[in-house]
Amino acid sequence: MTERVAHNQWSSRLVFMLASIGSAVGLGNIWKFPYITGEYGGGAFVLVYLVCIALIGIPVMMAEILLGRCARANPVVAFRSLVESKSRVWGGVGLMGVFAGFVILSFYSVVAGWALAYVVDALSGAFDGLDGKRSGALFSSLTGSPQRLLFWHTAFMLLTVAVVARGVRSGLERLVTLLMPLLFVLLALLVGYAMVAGEFARGFHYLFDIDFPRVFLQCSDDGACTFTAKPLLVAMGHAFFTLSLGMGAIMVYGSYMPRGASIAGSTVVIVIADTLVALMAGLAIFPLVFANGLEPGSGPGLVFVSLPIAFGAMPGGQLAGVLFFLLLVFAAWSSSISLMEPGVAWLSGNGGLSRVRATLILGGAAWLLGIGAALSFNLWSGEDYQFFGRTWFDLEDFLASNVLLPLGGLFTALFVGWVARRRSSENELAMRDSRLFGLWHFVIRYVAPAGIVLVFLNAIEVV
Ligand code: PFF
Repeated sequence: MTERVAHNQWSSRLVFMLASIGSAVGLGNIWKFPYITGEYGGGAFVLVYLVCIALIGIPVMMAEILLGRCARANPVVAFRSLVESKSRVWGGVGLMGVFAGFVILSFYSVVAGWALAYVVDALSGAFDGLDGKRSGALFSSLTGSPQRLLFWHTAFMLLTVAVVARGVRSGLERLVTLLMPLLFVLLALLVGYAMVAGEFARGFHYLFDIDFPRVFLQCSDDGACTFTAKPLLVAMGHAFFTLSLGMGAIMVYGSYMPRGASIAGSTVVIVIADTLVALMAGLAIFPLVFANGLEPGSGPGLVFVSLPIAFGAMPGGQLAGVLFFLLLVFAAWSSSISLMEPGVAWLSGNGGLSRVRATLILGGAAWLLGIGAALSFNLWSGEDYQFFGRTWFDLEDFLASNVLLPLGGLFTALFVGWVARRRSSENELAMRDSRLFGLWHFVIRYVAPAGIVLVFLNAIEVV
């Protein structure tokens, strides 16, 4: 099994980085980051998210890549093969990751379906002259229709299955090399547009002014305020989500990484690219939100309501709208492929299934689960269809992003910090400066696990 995976290598370090950026940059940056930032009140939330990226995201990403490359195997086997006792317990962490990826894929595909639907809307000129109200109505007419949502969810899942079934390498390399840079350029243009046509200063201050009470105090009508740790949990969960950590996606990509390529250097590039895209999305969206009288905390529709107003008003907006949503689909596509890869690598490597069959089974099951996510916006939006006080969509997102991914990250940090031999990590990372290695080892051993546990402990009441 290890042999078979070893042959399936990225052709260079650059391709590994682009594939990982393709995995990291997706709906999480352009759809989720702006809308949760709006829901949790702006600047202080962004700061906590950035701190989580730096203190937990970077060291855990290095740990995942090093585990994957060291074991040259899928996450379930990687954990198992690196402990001397060959204990099966650690394999459970890999399995949890496979499960998390499968849950995320099911609702991810529904949201990617919105972007697909908006490509067609943009093409048909539906954005022309939209104002805030009409843009809201356009979005509601999409989410209110189970048929349309299911159609686009199905279409996106088929796109994902088609690439994964063929093998990630051949399918992905060409896709990401060209399209990721293009998305970046288009986002930069949108930020430029927001500077000219939106309330840029207000959007900027909203994103970067740090107002802890606004984010962390919950006040009732009689003026009594209590601390809430929910933004903390959501910000940490999002750091994992946006960097594709905690479920083995980056680990499995790391297992296809050529030996000798620098893990720390690659990690820094991936993290900077991912963070830049999220901040640029925020800078493009919030100025338009304020200029058009929209609510920053209006929820998952934020991007889909705000940007079409801009496309409807700018010169060449029809083309820009089509291009933007098309690129968003591609970004989501390169992420969804990586959501599936750990499960497929495991089922086809150890489960003895063919790659095609493994992909079809996993994709089919995620598609089924995704139906519940699609219905959460219409037939299942009411009180009768609440699961633990949440819609199916919200439950899936909460469970995967805020519980399973941080847990996966915690176990990865504990494994690398305490179980794996320090010497093997040192060899695999091969950092030039031994003090830097010492710092990383300290963070992965103490700081990252303690940070995750602290956030969990604080947020117990949220569950
Ligand atoms: N990082 C992706 C995004 O931000 O859209 C989502 C994702 C992909 C999460 C792969 C987890 C994962 F393993």
